[in-house]
Amino acid sequence: MADQYARYGDGTRPAEIPAIRWDEPPEGPVLVLLDQTRLPAEEIELVCTDAPALVEAIRNLAVRGAPLLGIAGAYGVALAAARGFDVEEAATSLEGARPTAVNLAVGVGRARAAHRAVLARGGSEEQAAEAALAEARALHREDAEASTRMAAHGLALLDELLPGGGHRVLTHCNTGALVSGGEGTAFAVALAAHRKGRLRRLWVDETRPLLQGARLTAYEAARNEMAYTLLTDNAAGSLFAAGEVDAVLVGADRIAADGSVANKVGTYPLAVLARYHHVPFIVVAPVTTLDPGTPDGASIEVEQRAGHEVTEIVAPQVPMAGVEVGGGIPVAPLGTQAYNPAFDVTPPELVTAIVTEEGVVSPVTAEALAELCDRSRQV
Ligand code: MRU
Repeated sequence: MADQYARYGDGTRPAEIPAIRWDEPPEGPVLVLLDQTRLPAEEIELVCTDAPALVEAIRNLAVRGAPLLGIAGAYGVALAAARGFDVEEAATSLEGARPTAVNLAVGVGRARAAHRAVLARGGSEEQAAEAALAEARALHREDAEASTRMAAHGLALLDELLPGGGHRVLTHCNTGALVSGGEGTAFAVALAAHRKGRLRRLWVDETRPLLQGARLTAYEAARNEMAYTLLTDNAAGSLFAAGEVDAVLVGADRIAADGSVANKVGTYPLAVLARYHHVPFIVVAPVTTLDPGTPDGASIEVEQRAGHEVTEIVAPQVPMAGVEVGGGIPVAPLGTQAYNPAFDVTPPELVTAIVTEEGVVSPVTAEALAELCDRSRQV
C-alpha cells in the first residue's frame, strides 16, 4: 500500500535530498520515497508498505534512475521480508517492474540472496529479514561512495580533455541526487566541476516526453546554484553547431559487455552530434550498471511506454507519468499512435569514455570493460 506522507511545499524540506529512506514508525517498517512525479511543483513523500506499492511507484517513475532503482529494489525485498510477505514473490515482481536498468535486478538479487542465505543455514525469518535490510543498506551506502569516486574520476577526465577549464557541459535526463544514494553519476561530475569553479554552463536537455531534464535536473541545478540553461532536446544540434558544447555527460541504465550504452531516449542522437562536432561524449555509471551477461546493444531490452505520454503533455502540477489518458493536455488528434521507447542504445564507438568508481575506460572496448569488471569484483 502506498500513502502520501509529508508535504514540504513551504520550502522546509532539508537541503539534502533523501530520494529514498527506510523508516520504522510504530505501525511497522516502511520505504519512503520522494515522489519524483510531483517535482518540481511539490515535494511530497510517498510511503510504501508493501512490494506492490513499490512496483507501482517504479512503473510510474515516482522512483527512477538506474542506481536508485537498484537501491529501491533491495529495500523492497527487505520490506516484504520485514512485513512477513512472500519474499520470493515480491522479488520476482520487483525485478520485473522495469526491464532496462540492470541495477534493479542487481539490487533485488543482492537482498534476495542475503535473505535466502540466512534461511539456508537454518536462520529464522526475522534474521533473514534483518540480513535483507542490511544488504539494502550496504548497497545504499556503496552507491553513495561510488558517486563520490565517479565525480572525482569524471572531473579529472574533463580537466584532462579540456585543459582550458570553464567547461560547458550538456547533459540529458536526470542523473543527480535524485537517482542515487549520493550525488549521482553524470550530474555529480558537473557538480564537482561547479564546486571547483570550473563549470561555465550546464546545458540541460528537457528530455521529452516526461521531462526529467526540465523537472528534475533543472531542479537539482537550481538547488545547487549552478549556472544552467534548459533547452528543448531538438535545440541541441544548433547548440553544437554554435560551438557552445565542450563535452556531453550522461548516465546509463545498462552497459553491455561490448560497451553499448542504454540510456534515456535521446542519448544516441547526442552521441552522433558529439562525434560530428568532435566533442567528447562521456558516460558516467557505477559498476553495478555494467552487465557482462548482456553481450551487445541489440540484446538490451528497451522499455516501451504508453503512447499517451507522447500524445499528451503533462502540466507541471500533474504527475509526470502514470496519468490516465485524458489527464494531460492533448497535442495530437485523439487516437494517434505514438512510438515511445524509454531508452536508446549508443554504440561503443561513439563513446569517448566510460567513467566508473573503479576508474575510466577509454577507449571503450569489451576487453577493457571485462578487465574493469574483474577488478571491481576482487575489491
Ligand atoms: O526513465 P528514467 O527516468 O528512469 O531514466 C533514467 C535515465 O535514463 C538515466 O539517465 C539513467 O538511469 C542514468 S541515472 C544515473
